[in-house]
Amino acid sequence: MSQSSAALRTEYVCSCFFNRQIFIKKYGLHVSYDNDTQFEDDFRQSLRFRGCSTDKQYSDVLSQVKAEVERRKSYHSTFLSNYLRNREYRYIHPEIIQFQTSYLDQRFLDMMQEKNLQNADTLLQSLAANGGFVHGQQVYSFPIFTKNFCTQLIEEITNFKQSTQERSLPNTMNFEGVSLDEMGLSYTFLTPLIKNYFQTITKLLFSNWGGGAIDSFKSFAVRYDKDKHPSLSKHFDNGEVSMSICLNSEFEGGDLQLEQVLGQEEDLDMEPVAVNQQMGHCIMHRSRQFHFAHPITNGVRTNMIVWMRSSSIRNEMCPMCGQRPDIQEVPIAGDGFTLGQERTSCSCS
Ligand SMILES: [Fe+2]
Ligand SMILES: [Zn+2]
Repeated sequence: MSQSSAALRTEYVCSCFFNRQIFIKKYGLHVSYDNDTQFEDDFRQSLRFRGCSTDKQYSDVLSQVKAEVERRKSYHSTFLSNYLRNREYRYIHPEIIQFQTSYLDQRFLDMMQEKNLQNADTLLQSLAANGGFVHGQQVYSFPIFTKNFCTQLIEEITNFKQSTQERSLPNTMNFEGVSLDEMGLSYTFLTPLIKNYFQTITKLLFSNWGGGAIDSFKSFAVRYDKDKHPSLSKHFDNGEVSMSICLNSEFEGGDLQLEQVLGQEEDLDMEPVAVNQQMGHCIMHRSRQFHFAHPITNGVRTNMIVWMRSSSIRNEMCPMCGQRPDIQEVPIAGDGFTLGQERTSCSCS
């Protein structure tokens, strides 16, 4: 989420936020809802193929979808009241609110030295020399955070979940999610991290996907556990460049698999790649690249997710509906659109 939302300035979403890309976990299907007739015409058959065969099962799905549409209508006002209330939250590690270079893995700091940032090639060479890998076209992994910082962040997330009564779900695919914005980390932790480090990388490695014009972000934590939520279904993200940073090591399995890019599904040359998740390491990829998490076979895994956004890209086409965005004003937690003009200055600055 952008700094401007943390400052409670008006933000914008595409109207598709309210009724599209609704995930039916039980049947592994994304749906949209305008009315009962449209829903039946568009999805009844697909649902039946996925095992939703009885009238009762279908009406349960319909109720679930309508409830989600209602939740989305009040999402931003609820987020705002949660955000304001959670300002009272008492941190167990208050120092994590303030970004410090000591949180960063020394290999990442070495990789980000000025001399390595001349162009994409020099950056990729230093990435490979400092514990990073190129897994495929525009899929990279490299160490970012120290283990000590990862542990503190997980402890803080866990404490936040236990001590706050009201939280907003960052998305419908993972009900264990926690918004890092709502936790109060946008201004002084995430913004400097993205502005001083991540944007430098996206500018060199994702310039063809808006990486040189990132001006807002959304960040949240997700948790997988073997019994309740072992995996994540295939999807793409609502961003331009995505990062998934693994925060712990007490799990087995859970590789992140990256496949085709939205709009380029016919690209048969694109080999799927499965990337191993390691504590303190991130996986960076185009947000529009379809991906899913393989099941973890043991333990619990927590990841911090960052979706970096460029208004200059998304003002032209909303990634979630594929149309020119139908822009709607919201009080907080927008999706990185601006009102017809590009932001005059980077909201990450
Ligand atoms: Fe994702
Ligand atoms: Zn849209």
